[in-house]
Amino acid sequence: MVSVTIIDRAGREETVEAAPGLSVMETIRQAGFDELEAMCGGSCSCATCHVYAQGEGLVPLSADEDDLLDSSDHRRADSRLSCQIRLSAALEGLRVTIAPED
Ligand code: FES
Repeated sequence: MVSVTIIDRAGREETVEAAPGLSVMETIRQAGFDELEAMCGGSCSCATCHVYAQGEGLVPLSADEDDLLDSSDHRRADSRLSCQIRLSAALEGLRVTIAPED
């Protein structure tokens, strides 16, 4: 299992143990956080699963993810689409904050 800390828009923080292979979007949903719209269901086309991600072992952004994040007014250097991050042991201790709604 991979330990992931999720922080919602109100600052509530919860650390969960999630299965490798799950996306961070699925992990956030399964943990009961309902702020993440994730409208396209994880197909990298809506950008409503935007999070700020801090941790070791993150793979670089894909060109599609980068383009979609450009549509957000809240983009930061650590912005990611949570549906595009697959959990693995390399991401142990990852911290994700749900970005403000666009
Ligand atoms: S859920 Fe739509 S881009 Fe991630």
